[in-house]
Amino acid sequence: MADLIATPPRIFIQTFGCQMNELDSGKMLRLLEGDGYAATDQADDADVILINTCSVREKPEQKVRSLLGRYKGLKEANPDLIIGVTGCYAQQAKGELLRRFPLVDLVMGPDAIPRLPALVMDIQHSRSRSLATEQLDRQDYPFVNDVVVAQGGSVTAFVNIQKGCDNLCSFCIVPFTRGREVSRSADDVLDEVRRLAERGVREVTLLGQNVNSYGLKKSDAPAFHDLVAAVAGVQGIARIRFTTSNPWDLDEGLIQLYRDQQKLASYFHLPVQAGADSMLLRMRRKHTRAEYLLLVERLRQARPDLALSTDIIVGFPGETEEEHEQTLSLLEAVRYDFIYSFKYSPRPDTQAVSKYEDDVPGAVKKRRLAEIQDMQRLVTDERLQSWVGRDVEVLIEGPSKRDPQWLSGRIGQNWMVSLPGAARLVGTLVDVRIDEAVSNSLSGHANHRDTVARAGGRLTVL
Ligand code: SAH
Ligand code: F3S
Repeated sequence: MADLIATPPRIFIQTFGCQMNELDSGKMLRLLEGDGYAATDQADDADVILINTCSVREKPEQKVRSLLGRYKGLKEANPDLIIGVTGCYAQQAKGELLRRFPLVDLVMGPDAIPRLPALVMDIQHSRSRSLATEQLDRQDYPFVNDVVVAQGGSVTAFVNIQKGCDNLCSFCIVPFTRGREVSRSADDVLDEVRRLAERGVREVTLLGQNVNSYGLKKSDAPAFHDLVAAVAGVQGIARIRFTTSNPWDLDEGLIQLYRDQQKLASYFHLPVQAGADSMLLRMRRKHTRAEYLLLVERLRQARPDLALSTDIIVGFPGETEEEHEQTLSLLEAVRYDFIYSFKYSPRPDTQAVSKYEDDVPGAVKKRRLAEIQDMQRLVTDERLQSWVGRDVEVLIEGPSKRDPQWLSGRIGQNWMVSLPGAARLVGTLVDVRIDEAVSNSLSGHANHRDTVARAGGRLTVL
């Protein structure tokens, strides 16, 4: 009897980096839940701690070191505590991590995720340390088919459609940490989307490093736009997003889908990295400035209210003032809704490191980044402001973090909107009038007169 009511062992996962890492953390959690573990948000309570790392830019080793410093006392108090380092930095540093950090029991790359329960059990039984960083580049790679829905009955979910990347952009470590590109079978993707929809998910984001090339290596796989169209056909799914998409594999089929398929959100994250052809060439991007601008034009023709975002790197080796100006002028030409911008940081194994010197001084990188961000800030503010007074469709995701009487959700263009309203609207599409643009989000009120009444001077959905 005692066994039945014993508290389950607990797992704590700390996640860094991109949406793929977030999804991976969810999958690791689900896999261990299947073995009787329960999630905790307190490292102090945990029997297993996983640090799911990112090595795309920052200094991942320092982050791991400082976290392990915090967990040292926990391990001393509980020698059975298992500490693992997972994700892209684990894949990059491999055995070096075990050598450098005696506290670490498990070093596991992204490809080993399906084996996590077995690896943990093995460490428990043998009390030995484990390294799982072999890469699986097989086309029958075993994607984890478990549905991952964030706690609290999520309205939105990520769905993995692809792993790895076959491009070798010269600055990028991802092809080394995540391996060759493999597409997940369309049947599995659709099956997962159906199961998510049954659990109340209304919006899915299809995830891959280079989603436009989905299926290209498999003769029997649909093209990416056909996959998106099939996902749109799943009952209950109201909205579809995807990331990341690269300009050179973007074809007419997807542009056409923006014209025809209203469930495809009016949002496109299309990384450009730089505005000068000479830089794009050194970065080994397979598009020119003119080709990129043409794509933007065609996308906007297909979907006039499309919101666009991008990634920019400043200070890539050899970047001249003139090249930097061209990035600024590209931002001006496109007028993105928002951008992610980064200072170049040399990454191990990449071609940029072996071929070029990191020769743009830190102060110059800093100034160029500030110039880019200052210019974009003005455009982003204008774009946000342009929503005021307009009617939009908001997919309500849950109560607002600031005020539980309020709800928050997103419009297709990806902006967060908060509005007063009742919890029963979570998971529904609500017609909203935007009243205000505040920092990086919008606020408004529901338009349905029959569901709205004034209470204490404030709009409340009954
Ligand atoms: N296709 C991937 C790209 C991953 S990296 C995806 O799913 O998003 C995300 C962004 O980080 C890149 O688009 C690039 O702008 C930036 N980045 C990658 N390597 C970098 C480096 N070495 N230095 C600075 N920024 C980098
Ligand atoms: Fe990286 Fe380029 Fe692939 S940015 S993930 S190598 S498309």
